[in-house]
Amino acid sequence: MGPVMIRTYDLWKQYEDEGHDGMALRGINLEIKKGQIVTLFGKSGSGKTTLLNLIAGLDVPTKGRVEIDGRDIEALGEAGRTLLRRNKLGFVFQFFNLLPTLTALENIMLSLELAGMNDKRPALEALEHVGLAGKEGRFPHELSGGEQQRVAIARALVKKPPVILADEPTGNLDSATGTQILDLLVKRCRDNEATLIMVSHALNTCEYADRVLRMIDGRIVEERSCEDLAR
Ligand SMILES: Nc1ncnc2c1ncn2[C@@H]1O[C@H](COP(=O)(O)OP(=O)(O)OP(=O)(O)O)[C@@H](O)[C@H]1O
Ligand SMILES: [Mg+2]
Repeated sequence: MGPVMIRTYDLWKQYEDEGHDGMALRGINLEIKKGQIVTLFGKSGSGKTTLLNLIAGLDVPTKGRVEIDGRDIEALGEAGRTLLRRNKLGFVFQFFNLLPTLTALENIMLSLELAGMNDKRPALEALEHVGLAGKEGRFPHELSGGEQQRVAIARALVKKPPVILADEPTGNLDSATGTQILDLLVKRCRDNEATLIMVSHALNTCEYADRVLRMIDGRIVEERSCEDLAR
């Protein structure tokens, strides 16, 4: 396969608040190729969100480093990391996905505007791609959970970023809706040749993935197949 898109070298993270004695990450070495679709599994507290935040440059490692598309993100500085996130990364967060005072369209436009694009067409198109044409004027509280999550996915995809990080994109959805959302997310990533890391507890997510990684207590084990996950 092609070039490496995401690489981590011996990544460690210890949060600095009192009462937290453990390490959230204990030496993560990852190499994810362009266009790969990766599922990240693991118990609550195993370090999944921490890892995604470090890859996105939203938090800094205690030790080790992250490279996106061959560039050390620490060397980019705060301003460079902000640009990287605006231009190259799509993020679907675990909680609080949408801004409640903005409509579906405005939530998506915000992401485009931050990257210097003011045209509404790609935003409307992205909503159409996730099956929400006609609902662009709705506020998040006027949408179902699955619809809100689809807006969040449209927002992550609208700039066609080379990297998408999705933290439990189907977390609060029933399994039928969850499957639809995963189909959609994976299909859009394949179409755009985007690299996707998605956190998920649902066993069926491994069917979509090229690779399945399991996190245990801040470390990563690569699984060979879906069957391994059922253990
Ligand atoms: N901001 C923080 N300050 C202090 N400790 C934190 C912070 N964020 C996470 N932790 C701790 O780091 C560890 C890993 O947390 P993380 O959120 O990465 O887990 P997770 O795998 O995403 O869990 P979940 O499946 O519940 O979302 C946990 O022990 C957690 O308590
Ligand atoms: Mg988490």
